[in-house]
Amino acid sequence: MKTADWHNRYLMQARWTKNLRRFIFDKLKAAPGQTVLEVGSGTGALFPDFEYQGLRPFGVDIDLQRCEFSMSNSPDNPMVNADGFRLPFKNGSFDFTFCHYFLLWLKNPQEVIKEMKRVTKPGGYVIAAAEPDYQSRIDYPELFQNIGNMQNHSLSFQGVNLTMGRKLGWMFREAGLQGVHLGLLAGEWRQPSLDAFEAEWDMIAYDLGGMAPIERILEIKEEAMQSWLKGQATIFIPTFYAHGKL
Ligand SMILES: C[S@@+](CC[C@H](N)C(=O)[O-])C[C@H]1O[C@@H](n2cnc3c(N)ncnc32)[C@H](O)[C@@H]1O
Repeated sequence: MKTADWHNRYLMQARWTKNLRRFIFDKLKAAPGQTVLEVGSGTGALFPDFEYQGLRPFGVDIDLQRCEFSMSNSPDNPMVNADGFRLPFKNGSFDFTFCHYFLLWLKNPQEVIKEMKRVTKPGGYVIAAAEPDYQSRIDYPELFQNIGNMQNHSLSFQGVNLTMGRKLGWMFREAGLQGVHLGLLAGEWRQPSLDAFEAEWDMIAYDLGGMAPIERILEIKEEAMQSWLKGQATIFIPTFYAHGKL
């Protein structure tokens, strides 16, 4: 997939968590001009929202192309091409350190949480805004259950930790963060539309690529679309958030 396509995918995920992110920063009394470092910031899809809240975003990502995309899209937001396990910043540099759909991709996420804590100012916060628990997903009806199983298979093959969400609270506490709050992103299902189906399907099709021949994937898509437009489909992937103070 091209970097611009990843950006569109990240923009869609950003829409799911928009209200939650605003709620968290309001709750933590984020003030205009405070700094936020997003670790694993990808194409910078969340930067406009940080700015909307008056925050000054900085990003780190291990993927050079995503860093370049982010810099060309939002040149005012500094972006460093680096590994989250070794952040190139001094102790206590940022008011907030933040991540979003990130820890699930790592082999030792607790090490990155500790590294985020290191570069956060005393009195500041470490925030993980969206860490799914794919293993406890709900998919209905059976067709979507089959699709969900295939998607989990593929994600696991891509290196995703399918039970990251349930471990988040403990990892924050184990890192020595104070007053850890753990929560769950709520679900909401509107009137089914073709646009919403196509957007969801783009992600599913990417994950299913290689799991079945293309003709079979197209058949599944047709069946899934009919079921979706009838209003049968209910998909819920429990997605956790946590914040803790230094
Ligand atoms: C699913 S994307 C999320 C991007 C962004 N947080 C968002 O929500 O729009 C995860 C990002 O983490 C980055 N990443 C993976 N391992 C990393 C590491 N060890 N250090 C820094 N970035 C990493 C990937 O390159 C990718 O851009």
